[in-house]
Amino acid sequence: MTESIRILMCAPDHYDVDYVINPWMEGNIHKSSQDKAVEQWSKLNQILNDIAQVDLVEGQPGVPDMVFTANAGLVLGENAVLSRFYHPERQGEEPHFKKWFADNGFNVFELPQDLPFEGAGDALLDREGRWLWAGYGFRSELDSHPYLAKWLDIEVLSLRLIDDRFYHLDTCFCPLTGGYLLYYPGAFDSYSNHIIEKRVPESKRIAIAEADAINFACNTVNVEQTVVMNKASSSLKQSLEDAGFTVIETPLTEFLKAGGAAKCLTLRINEPVLPDVHGSTPVESRVLHLEGHLLDAGIMNRSLDLVVDNGGSFKVLNFNLGVERNSISNADVRISAPDHEVMEKIMGQLIELGAASPSDDVSNADTETCDLDGVAPDDFYVSNIYPTEVRVDNQWVRVQKQRMDGSIVINHNADGVTAECKVIRDLVQGDSVVVGVEGIRTVRKKSNRELKVKEEFSFMGAGVSSERRVELVVEQIAWELRQIRDRGGKVVVTAGPVVIHTGGAKHLSKLVRDGYVQGLLGGNAIAVHDIEQSLMGTSLGVDMQKGTPVQGGHRHHLKVINKVRRYGSIAQAVEQGVITQGIMYECVKHHVPFALAGSIRDDGPLPDTQMDLIKAQEEYAQLIEGADMILMLSTMLHSIGVGNMTPAGVKMVCVDINPAVVTKLSDRGSVESVGVVTDVGLFLSLLVNQLNKLTSPYQTV
Ligand SMILES: NC(=O)c1ccc[n+]([C@@H]2O[C@H](COP(=O)([O-])OP(=O)(O)OC[C@H]3O[C@@H](n4cnc5c(N)ncnc54)[C@H](O)[C@@H]3O)[C@@H](O)[C@H]2O)c1
Repeated sequence: MTESIRILMCAPDHYDVDYVINPWMEGNIHKSSQDKAVEQWSKLNQILNDIAQVDLVEGQPGVPDMVFTANAGLVLGENAVLSRFYHPERQGEEPHFKKWFADNGFNVFELPQDLPFEGAGDALLDREGRWLWAGYGFRSELDSHPYLAKWLDIEVLSLRLIDDRFYHLDTCFCPLTGGYLLYYPGAFDSYSNHIIEKRVPESKRIAIAEADAINFACNTVNVEQTVVMNKASSSLKQSLEDAGFTVIETPLTEFLKAGGAAKCLTLRINEPVLPDVHGSTPVESRVLHLEGHLLDAGIMNRSLDLVVDNGGSFKVLNFNLGVERNSISNADVRISAPDHEVMEKIMGQLIELGAASPSDDVSNADTETCDLDGVAPDDFYVSNIYPTEVRVDNQWVRVQKQRMDGSIVINHNADGVTAECKVIRDLVQGDSVVVGVEGIRTVRKKSNRELKVKEEFSFMGAGVSSERRVELVVEQIAWELRQIRDRGGKVVVTAGPVVIHTGGAKHLSKLVRDGYVQGLLGGNAIAVHDIEQSLMGTSLGVDMQKGTPVQGGHRHHLKVINKVRRYGSIAQAVEQGVITQGIMYECVKHHVPFALAGSIRDDGPLPDTQMDLIKAQEEYAQLIEGADMILMLSTMLHSIGVGNMTPAGVKMVCVDINPAVVTKLSDRGSVESVGVVTDVGLFLSLLVNQLNKLTSPYQTV
C-alpha cells in the first residue's frame, strides 16, 4: 500500500438517480439498484484501499450525487478550491464539502456566487505536477480558471468540452504517471486538441475510441503504475500495459446511470506542490460595448453565439433595452477567451457586428511597418465589408476604399491622417499597417433609416426566396431598378453564360438598352455565347429558337472568338457592323463599360478578356465603385469575386438555381442582400415584363 496517496470517497448510502442533469441520467431516474451500487462502490473502495489511503466524507440525504467526491473541489497542497455547482440540484453538496475541507485543515477558497466550477471533475493536475488542465463548456466557466491559477499558484491550460456526454473533463481526459495522457479527442474542440498535442508528445498520448469513451475508460483512478476503471477494450488494455500500467477493471454500471465512474467517485486530497511551478493562465478577458437594434436585428444573439462557438465565454454586465420601436439598445458584455489568439479571433468577428471597447477605454490602433512589398505583417487586421473607423492619435478616422479581405493602411500626410483598405499585394515597404484588434470599430447604421430600408426589403430579408415568392421579389427589384435609373444611380450586372443558354440574352440586352445597367462584369463565356447567339443563332451549339443542338455547333463559339480576334475587340466588331445585336452590342452602343475577367477554362480568349487577373480585379473594382445595386446573374465565380470587393450598403441581388450558391452570396449579414432561387432566363423575362408594366401602367403583358 502506498501511504503517501490519499483519496476521498463517499459511501453511496443516499445515492440514486433523482433528476436529469446530463444525458446519461435520461431514462434512468430511480433505475439504479441501491444494493448493486453499494456492492460496486465497496469493491472500488477495497481496490483503492490496497494501493492508497482512503478517507471518507459522510453522505447526506437529499444530495444523491455527493457520492461523486471528485466534484467536492480541487485540492493542491494545503489549498482547496470549493466547487460552485452549475445545477441547483447539486448546490446542496457545497456546505458539506466545505465543512469537510475546513475540518481537515485545508485553506478553503470560494469562487464568486455566480461563477460555476465543478472541482476535480473539471480540473486535473498533470501527474508530474507541471500544470493544471482545466475544462469548460458545460459545467465550469472559463472565468474560474484565472482564480485557480492565482489561488493554487499553478499554470492553468483551458480545454473546451463540446460533447455533452462528456460534460466534465474527467469523463474524457486522464493524465497518468510519467506524463502519459489517456483521453478521448472527440470530446474537445480542435483548438483544445491542438493545445493537448503541443503539451503532450505523441508517444505519451493514449487516444481512445468512442466505444471505450462511453464505457468511461477515461474516468480512471491512477495511482502510480495502476489504473482502475469501469471497463476497457482489449486494445486499450494493451496500450496501457505497453506504457507500463497495470489495468484493474471493476464494474461501476450503477454509477454510469448518473454519468460517473471510478474517477468521479474519488478525490485525491494530497496533491504535492512543486517548488518551481507558478501560477499563470493565458485566459484573457475584456469588456465590449454593443449598441443598436440588438434584439430585432439579432446582433445580441449572433454576438454571444460567436463568442461561444469560437471557444470563448461571456457575461452580460448590463443590458439596456430600447423600449420604443425605433429606440436603440445597448449592452456591456465581458468576453473571456482561453488565450490571446482565440480572443483576437473573437474580437475580429465582434468588430464586424459593431462591437467596440467602451468609450472610456479606447486605445489607438496598433500598427506595424510593412517590411516586404506585397506582404502584410503577420498579425494584420483583415477588413470586412462594413464602414470601418480606426483610432489614430486619439481620433477616429474613417477607412477609405472599404472592402472585404484587405488590410488597413494609415497615412500621415499634410492633410492629416487618412486610412485606406489595401489588398495585401498592393502593400509596399514602409506602409503602416493596422495589426491586432485594438482601436478598430465598424459603423453600423442605427438610425430610423435602417428600419425603413429593412421594412422595404423585409420580405426578402430572410435571404433566399422560394419559387413561390419570385414574382413578388421581381416586383420589388423592378421598382428599385426604376428608382435608381430615374435618380441617375448605378446598377452593375455580373452575369454568366447561363443567361444566354436560358434565353435571357434578349432581356438583359433590353435592360442595357433601356438604361438600367451602368456596368457589366463577367468572364469570357458570357461574351462568347452572347456573340455566338448574335452571329449564329446558337448558344454553345444549341439552336436558341428550336432548343436543339446544331450539327457541328460545338465549334460555333470558337469561330466566333476567332472572328472577334480578327477585329481586335468586341467594340471594333460592333463598329464594323459584324455584331449587330445582343448584350455586348448594346453595351458598346450605349457606352456601358464592361470588364471580362479570364479563367483557366477560357477558350480563345476574346481580345477583351483580361487574362491578367490582378488587372481584371482592378477593372472590376473600378466598375463597382459607387454602385447602388449589383445584380448577380448565375455565375458563382464572378459573383463571389464581386461580393468580396463590394462594401456594405450596396444592394446585392443574387439569382441562381442552386440555393446553396444563393445562400452563400446573400449571407453577408447585411440587410441589403437579396437571394432569388430560380432559373435566370425566367427571372430576366419576369423582370423585363415588370419594368414594362412600370413604364406603361395600362399595358398588359
Ligand atoms: N468557352 C469558354 O471560354 C467558357 C465556357 C464556360 C465557362 N467559362 C468561364 O468559366 C468561368 C466560370 O463559369 P460560370 O460563371 O458559368 O460558372 P460558375 O460555376 O461559377 O457559375 C454558374 C452558376 O450558374 C448556376 N446555374 C446553372 N443553371 C442555371 C439556371 N438555369 N438558372 C440560374 N442559375 C443557373 C449554377 O448553379 C452556378 O452557380 C467563367 O469565368 C466563365 O467565363 C469559359
